[in-house]
Amino acid sequence: MSDYKLEAAVAAMKYIKTGQTVGVGAGSTIANLINLIAAEPALASTLTLVSSSFTTAKLILEKGLRLQSANTIKELDLYFDGCDQFDEELNALKSGGGIHTTEKILAAMAHEFILIGDAGKFSAQLDVTYPLVIEVLPNALPFVMKHLNINFPDASLNLRMSSQKDGALISDHGNYLVDIHFAALLPLEELNTKIALIPGVVAHSLFYRMAAMAIIAGQDGVKILT
Ligand code: 5RP
Repeated sequence: MSDYKLEAAVAAMKYIKTGQTVGVGAGSTIANLINLIAAEPALASTLTLVSSSFTTAKLILEKGLRLQSANTIKELDLYFDGCDQFDEELNALKSGGGIHTTEKILAAMAHEFILIGDAGKFSAQLDVTYPLVIEVLPNALPFVMKHLNINFPDASLNLRMSSQKDGALISDHGNYLVDIHFAALLPLEELNTKIALIPGVVAHSLFYRMAAMAIIAGQDGVKILT
């Protein structure tokens, strides 16, 4: 059986150039990319890697690659990340794992944010298959929940508690994570702004018009979407 996540990572390697500072997100596709980088020592020895994920950072160190903390740099040449779902305008939904805030910072720091993954992540339009995840400052939680309820009366809100199957219960920054399941998605620009503007919201997991490219592997081969 074909390993599309590996094929996407192989295609992503072509975009990495000697001496670059490269951000990498989370997930199995990104793990493939790290393994491929490590398998090319001449290139790998010139790269500086930055990650939004503890798991990916651990793999980078295990492979003997150079890891730098995001708090010491202000730009990246490239940022690669997977997603849960993306659309033809390269908007993406992310973060069952609850690390979207740092992922978004790294995506914004990069000259090029490149989504990579298997074709199953593509949907002509983002839909309600996945929840949106909202990182919320603890002391603003009741206020933010009230405003989410007012803005999205048909959506169901789920503050992550002990019942969560996977992903963090609180963020890497010690903040709460709220999953919001929509009955129908609002227009994405409106959704993006309405949530981001509530005081106390740190970041939400819709990556609206941030990606420059998607590298997608499926049964028809590898496709580059821009
Ligand atoms: C983290 C994510 C991951 O990138 C996403 O889950 C992709 O994982 P995989 O490459 O294992 O399919 O969105 O926020």
